[in-house]
Amino acid sequence: MAETLRRLRSWLVVLGAALLLPVSGISAASAQPTTDSGVSPMIVGGTRASTSQYPWVVYLATSSGSQYCGGTLVAPNKVVTAAHCTVGDSASAVRVVAGRDDKNSTAGVVARVNKIWIHPSYRTATQGYDVSVLTLDRNLNYATLPFATSADTGLYAAGTSATILGWGTTSSGGSASRYLLKASVPVVSSTSCTSSYGTSYKSAHMVCAGYTQGGTDTCQGDSGGPLVAGGKLIGITSWGQGCASAGYPGVYARVSAYATEIQAQINA
Ligand code: ARG
Repeated sequence: MAETLRRLRSWLVVLGAALLLPVSGISAASAQPTTDSGVSPMIVGGTRASTSQYPWVVYLATSSGSQYCGGTLVAPNKVVTAAHCTVGDSASAVRVVAGRDDKNSTAGVVARVNKIWIHPSYRTATQGYDVSVLTLDRNLNYATLPFATSADTGLYAAGTSATILGWGTTSSGGSASRYLLKASVPVVSSTSCTSSYGTSYKSAHMVCAGYTQGGTDTCQGDSGGPLVAGGKLIGITSWGQGCASAGYPGVYARVSAYATEIQAQINA
C-alpha cells in the first residue's frame, strides 16, 4: 500500500538521521527518555489551533482520506510541501485537505492534484532540497501565505520565534493527532545545529528550530508543513533525531534558498 510506503518513508528519514549521528553509547539512547517523559503531548508540546486562524495550512491525504503530511497554500492552486512526502507518488493518488481542523470531520474542501513538482536535486531529506510544489485541480478559497526570499535573511536569525503546525504524532513513535496543533519554537543558529547534527545539517539548505531542552517539536506526519516567522513561510518540516529531544532541534528546508524555484512553479 502507498500508505505503508509513506509511513516507512517517514521512518527511514528518522532512521537515516539516526544512522548519521555518532552513536557513542549515550547520545541516541539518552535522548529517548527525554522524548518519552513529555507531559503535554501535542504536535509535541503544542496546543489546538484552527484553520480559521491559519487558513493556509493544509494536509496531504491518501485517496482513502488518511493524513500523512502537511503543506502550505502559497497560491490559490499551489501547495508547498516536502519532497519526501511526494516522491514516488502519482498526482492522482494525492488529496489536499484545506479548512479542516478535525481529521474526523468533513469540514473544508478536498482538492485533487494535477501535477507534482519535486526539486530535481532531491535525493533524501538529510541531503537537502526537500521541497515539492503541488498544482491543485482548482483554486482554493483560502488565504495564502507569502514565502521567504533571499531578502528575508533576518527571519532566520537565531532566537526568532517561529510557529509550527501539523496533524502529526504527539510523541516520537506515538499516534497522530486528530486535530490541528501548533507550537512556538525559536530558530536555532547554524553553528548550534551543526553541533547537533554534524554534516547532515547543511546550512545553505536547512534551518533548525527548537529549544535546547527539547519538549516542543514537529514529529512524524508533520513533514511538509510550515515553519512560519514574520508572517512568512520560512521552513518546511523535514527531519530530526527523534522528536523534541534535548539537543536535537527539528530540521526544516530553508525556504529562502528555494524561493526562485517555488516562484517558477507558481508561475508555471
Ligand atoms: N520526517 C518526519 C515526517 O515525515 C518529520 C520529522 C520531523 N522531526 C523533528 N524532530 N522535527 O513527518
